[in-house]
Amino acid sequence: MRHGTSSSDFPYVINDVEPEEFAELQKTFNTAFTDGYVRVGPKGYFLKSGYRKEAAKIYNMSLRPDDVWVVTFPKSGTTWVQEMVWMVANDFDYETSKAVLLVNRFPFLERKIIYNDKAQKKFKEMTADKEENIKMYLSSEKSYLAADRPSPRFFKSHLPLSLLPPSLLATSRVVYVARDPRDVAVSYYYHYKLFAFYGYFGNFKQFWESFVKGDVDYCSYFEHLKEVWGQRHHANLLILFYEDLIKDLPGGIRRVARFLGKEPSEAQVRALSEHLKFDNFKKNKSVNFEPLKKMGFEDMNVGKTVSFIRKGKAGGWREHFDEQMAAQAQQWIDDNLRGTDLRFPGHD
Ligand code: A3P
Repeated sequence: MRHGTSSSDFPYVINDVEPEEFAELQKTFNTAFTDGYVRVGPKGYFLKSGYRKEAAKIYNMSLRPDDVWVVTFPKSGTTWVQEMVWMVANDFDYETSKAVLLVNRFPFLERKIIYNDKAQKKFKEMTADKEENIKMYLSSEKSYLAADRPSPRFFKSHLPLSLLPPSLLATSRVVYVARDPRDVAVSYYYHYKLFAFYGYFGNFKQFWESFVKGDVDYCSYFEHLKEVWGQRHHANLLILFYEDLIKDLPGGIRRVARFLGKEPSEAQVRALSEHLKFDNFKKNKSVNFEPLKKMGFEDMNVGKTVSFIRKGKAGGWREHFDEQMAAQAQQWIDDNLRGTDLRFPGHD
């Protein structure tokens, strides 16, 4: 696909972010891992330029009726819900859950966008003596899109629905997780700080401004969410809110079970709630991204105080927004929700 063009197998135009805008972005991150950014389609989704090579492959990938997807805007509780979905779909197979890393049981569809050529080269330099860890971590690398994975396949994606195969909802089941964008932004900021490959050195206020402007990977947040909200009555789509899961985890498990056609006992629901409880989840090496630490992907300094499974709270954003930011955020949310019946639980 050439610059600024669409093609017969992908309907949207992919434009490079303009050099002036890229220069502006570089005020808050270094570009050691990033070739650049693109804006995709009429909604202008902001993605790393590695997306160019993957766009048509992903859009046209073949689907199966028993595929199960977890699709989210990043930092909405993806990992938590992936483990929930996987456990329910696999009849509470704790043994495999422990033995096989979640990233390999439930691969990240567009991993290649992040681990683009430049990033891969850089990772190799950083992790030259950690080859075994990388192999373990990325053992599903070859088959992540692929036809050779046994059914049922599980996919994690942060791409908006419009960039996924058009027959996705008609064919496979999708669980989408939504979360208050203020908490998403705080969580995302720490994520950008934690993973060395984002090279982010801005402060939270700057990050929030970029987030609202749509200059953070996978933005626009609201376009992402509204695309799914427009399909909320589709039988193959289940939308969960992070805030509801925090309040009632067993209720969330039961909804997922119903959606997947399973009928767990109360004891099974209780045991899975325990497994997914924040404190247990944080310690669970199969899901908590600890191996990334060994591989040197995490910023050593940030990693002393921040971990991937970080706070696990709804409403924690209040500690990060000053009065002016809070008012502006409320206005931004109100503007975006106007004319929709979309509401974040706990916020009228
Ligand atoms: P915080 O950074 O606010 O703590 P994702 O998996 O989409 O990247 O989302 C990460 C967010 O989900 C983080 O939010 C993380 O702490 C939270 N999370 C992960 N596991 C959780 C759990 N078991 N209970 C509550 N929150 C959890």
